[in-house]
Amino acid sequence: METDSMKIPAWTASEGAHRARELFGEAFPELGRPSGVWASPGRINLIGEHVDYNGGVCLPIALPHRTYVALRPREDTRIRLISDEGDAPRWEGDLSAVKPDGGIPSWVAYAAGVAWALQRDGYAVGGFDAAVASCVPLGAGLSSSAALECAMGLALDDVYGFGLAASPAGRAELVAACISAENDVVGAPTGGMDQAASLLTTKDHALRLDCLTGATTQVPFDLAAQGLAILVIDTQAKHSLVDGQYGQRRALCERVAAEEGVETLRQLPDPAATLTRLTDPEAVRRVRHVISEIERTEEFVELLTKGRYGELGALMDASHASLRDDYEVSCPELDTAVEASRAAGAWGARMTGGGFGGSAIALVEERNLDATMAAVAQAFMDNGWRGPRFLQATAAGAGCRVSKEEAL
Ligand code: GLA
Repeated sequence: METDSMKIPAWTASEGAHRARELFGEAFPELGRPSGVWASPGRINLIGEHVDYNGGVCLPIALPHRTYVALRPREDTRIRLISDEGDAPRWEGDLSAVKPDGGIPSWVAYAAGVAWALQRDGYAVGGFDAAVASCVPLGAGLSSSAALECAMGLALDDVYGFGLAASPAGRAELVAACISAENDVVGAPTGGMDQAASLLTTKDHALRLDCLTGATTQVPFDLAAQGLAILVIDTQAKHSLVDGQYGQRRALCERVAAEEGVETLRQLPDPAATLTRLTDPEAVRRVRHVISEIERTEEFVELLTKGRYGELGALMDASHASLRDDYEVSCPELDTAVEASRAAGAWGARMTGGGFGGSAIALVEERNLDATMAAVAQAFMDNGWRGPRFLQATAAGAGCRVSKEEAL
């Protein structure tokens, strides 16, 4: 089976910048060039799923796939936006229209919502013209929305001179503004891991993100040196976080935490006692996932730190089983991707991201990459499903400016 054509390539920085700049020039010919181009990555999460909104620990890496934003500030408060998606949607409106329940299209809320959040936080954001080009697959559970928010955040931070991207504390503020764009302006009750992954990661490292304290640790992550690779399998099955399933789970976790007198499930003084006390079997399953997933993530970090790569796969497998059986956020396509890659020799595999479709990841020996892709594609064909798409995840760096066109 020809596997190369099934792989989604990552643009180089100059290719991405070129595409965004070209789109900007076509959409706003009277302006000439943008002030610059900024890019921010999508992510996969190695382990620690559905724990960010429970104060847990997750371990994302940034993908080499990024969203590019070419932007120029305006003297007034108008916003003009264009995206390279599908039929190149355009939007034009006033900054004041970008707000919670503003009735704007959701892609505009993702893109411009961060301007609203920065303004609310006291930063004097004005209008802007922007063009968006992206090679992060959409709807694949790889955080294309966070990549867009973060690229926009970096652009606005730079052109309006806030200087947030220059320091870790400033970047944490940008992360918060991007999360607020998603939670408040888009209305998706997500937990914040994706924006942190896009803005706080370091190349060749996984990001240990403690969602209770906000503390971050860069964990060396160099699989190639071990002859290993992470294969990402985009099942192309539907994935939506706004359709209620995600919010229901989050609400249940928050309800149990409140009943136990703590703010998050991470803070349960005696998790085993809570599990015994719970009478609703659904609540037992959900809480059991959260507690066990946080433990698995800590263990994964420890194994990684000690270079015990051979033991990582079992934790990924256990994580998938827990997400499938206890948290119930997997689906037949994800289970098949996981099972087929394991049958083809993967050391471990699991769904990554929110679930209900989207992507799975498999830890594979580099020399088995092609065979694993072929086996998964075959399994999808046998089920009569649309072919999956693949990409190889290497730990890339956080978002940054990729091109400066003129003095800002
Ligand atoms: C989505 C959300 C994240 C996180 C994951 C599950 O990606 O955006 O905040 O909750 O699901 O781990």
